[in-house]
Amino acid sequence: MIFDDNERIVTGDFLEEDAEIETGLRPRQLAEYIGQEKAKGNLEIFIQAAKERHEALDHVLLYGPPGLGKTTLAGVIANEMGVNIRITSGPAIEKAGDLAAILTNLSQHDILFIDEIHRLSRTVEEILYPAMEDYALDIIIGKGPSAKSIRLDLPKFTLIGATTRAGLLTAPLRDRFGVLSRLELYTPAELKTIVKRSADILNVEIDDAGAEEIALRSRGTPRIANRILKRVRDFAQIQFSGSITGAVADAALGQMEIDRLGLDDIDKKMITAMIKNFGGGPVGLETLSATIGEEANTIEDVYEPYLLQIGFITRTPRGRVVAPPAYEHFGFSQPE
Ligand code: ADE
Repeated sequence: MIFDDNERIVTGDFLEEDAEIETGLRPRQLAEYIGQEKAKGNLEIFIQAAKERHEALDHVLLYGPPGLGKTTLAGVIANEMGVNIRITSGPAIEKAGDLAAILTNLSQHDILFIDEIHRLSRTVEEILYPAMEDYALDIIIGKGPSAKSIRLDLPKFTLIGATTRAGLLTAPLRDRFGVLSRLELYTPAELKTIVKRSADILNVEIDDAGAEEIALRSRGTPRIANRILKRVRDFAQIQFSGSITGAVADAALGQMEIDRLGLDDIDKKMITAMIKNFGGGPVGLETLSATIGEEANTIEDVYEPYLLQIGFITRTPRGRVVAPPAYEHFGFSQPE
């Protein structure tokens, strides 16, 4: 057993562990991975092509809102390629030497997965450039005029980077990825399929209405859907007969204060501030951030994508604007 920098176990062909999603819920094959059809379709071709040529897969950047399965997809890619995956994250790699140690320990065609890759420090990032481009590590030996640079060959590996927005990466890093793949929020139908699959693995009985209820209240995000499923299972077990119906899910979600669309306090605060303080917008991101006391990055990466998906806000060049369904949902009268 090998432990990575986050103390996550990285086994022969696939890792496991995530604070929220326990072993078993994650798909291991592309065919089992629900949704993300565009990303999956392309990856399938790139994987097959690389395998036929007996080459390492080109470096892949996965970007999109948190919880959509970027780590899961990296594991699936490793499994499909038949190689090992080593999992770490930008903030966990503190020194250039940490990354050098990881890189020199990889085997041919292995995958190195770096989550939150936009949080790598400048010096660490610079080690990655020759590593990605030439599979080489440039090491400086000595100091001052007698310093020498020597080049170490690295195994041909695949870097899979994950981030919430591609724009958070520096241009030189972004340009070194051969595949840029954007993950999208899942549709309620896709989430329903994921919930039913997870319930099956967890051995919980769930009907269509129960799965639909959870799907509609999970903000387009499998991590949230799986988390809610586990909590609804607890309610079903203790307060009901054990199986999850639409009514059981609705009661449990109500008790957890997750509203009909999966919106929480911060969504409500955001929309309310936009309506009450700014006449519904347009409001700039920074202004909104200062008004509600929530980080601009969090608003942009976590809250906005779902509010955009359900048509509660729109983005214009001058800022965010509240759309009619949001007025109705939160009980505000529409402006003239
Ligand atoms: N669990 C988390 N994400 C998933 C996905 N996209 N497909 C199937 N199961 C999942």
